[in-house]
Amino acid sequence: MTATICGTGSYIPSYTMDNHDIAGLVETSDEWIRERTGVVRRHIARDETTVSMAAEAARRALADAGTAPEEVDLILVSTISSNVVLPCAACEVQKELGAVNATCFDLSAACTGFVLAYNTAFAYLTSGVYRTALVIGSESLSNLTNWKDRGTCILFGDGAGAAVLRADAAKEPDDESEAGMAEELPGVGRKNYLPVTHSDGGKGAALTCKSRHDFNSLNGGSRQASNETMLDDTHYMQMDGQAVFKFAVKKVPEVIGEALVLNRMKPDEISYYILHQANKRIVEAVAKRLGEPMEKFPMNLQEYGNTSSASIPILLDEMNRDGRLKPGQKLVMAGFGAGLTWGAAIVEWRGCSG
Ligand code: COA
Repeated sequence: MTATICGTGSYIPSYTMDNHDIAGLVETSDEWIRERTGVVRRHIARDETTVSMAAEAARRALADAGTAPEEVDLILVSTISSNVVLPCAACEVQKELGAVNATCFDLSAACTGFVLAYNTAFAYLTSGVYRTALVIGSESLSNLTNWKDRGTCILFGDGAGAAVLRADAAKEPDDESEAGMAEELPGVGRKNYLPVTHSDGGKGAALTCKSRHDFNSLNGGSRQASNETMLDDTHYMQMDGQAVFKFAVKKVPEVIGEALVLNRMKPDEISYYILHQANKRIVEAVAKRLGEPMEKFPMNLQEYGNTSSASIPILLDEMNRDGRLKPGQKLVMAGFGAGLTWGAAIVEWRGCSG
């Protein structure tokens, strides 16, 4: 059994804040932010919520895949910024879509979240538990951002991306006659690539956010946080930027290398490295360490900033829609972030026929 991405979608809020807007809030400048991060603007949810963005990205992914909501067996939402604690965002998305047959749950692993959600769905599909999965990354990080902290508020943005994964019943070719069919039948001859993922809870202090808000306007728009965290601002994201930077430029190329070795692949077999979009300098450093050309490292962080678990599926959707992705291409998706967590998954692009 194998599984593949059959459709993608994304939703980006229309309201934007550029670097000049940020320079009106904290002591910084457009030049500094561009040079140190690559970010030029970010989109901010105003009327949208994590759930509404997730649902719209999901609708678009289902349309792209030609899949009806009733066909979805699993909805997984990766987020650290869900509207409420209960019910989970995935159940709310199910309600919005009418995906009545789906099992739904959320996954919280910050900026590695989409890769881990993809891996989770892939494991369910390839083991035969489910046939069709909707994997979504959606974030309203603006609600977790301290707009007085120039070390973090320059970086983040809001948005959602989604992918439909479908299991193919066809297996690895067992004999020569089956191998001959590999190009005609979906799934035949395709390899199930294994991901590599890691976590280091001992370094969790590098990126924290101590309590949740209620982002819904149901409580008159008030943001709920404990008195203690309100006093010291720890209910917002707090980050040791240099520690996270050093972690990313070391661990991301390492984990990509591990994934390639595990799957007996060489870097030149990879068409694109779709990295979590955190910082242009991190992407450039990873490319350099892998010895791979920058053309293989697409970026859109200049437009959206760091949208945590939404960044990889948003980029995937852009590349799908503008025709950069071609059937049979091998892609690496690599995430890294709070936890600390990091991981890489190899994807064969859109092998399914539907
Ligand atoms: N605007 C202007 N100056 C700033 C600034 C800002 N927004 N933030 C920091 N500075 C200043 C510092 O005060 C320091 O000044 P000094 O030399 O006079 O002391 C100088 O710029 C350098 O600060 P530093 O913290 O070393 O900057 P940096 O090059 O590490 O860039 C980050 C800061 C946050 C952009 C960078 O560390 C980073 O991107 N880290 C990774 C963060 C990340 O990706 N997190 C999410 C992972 S999922």
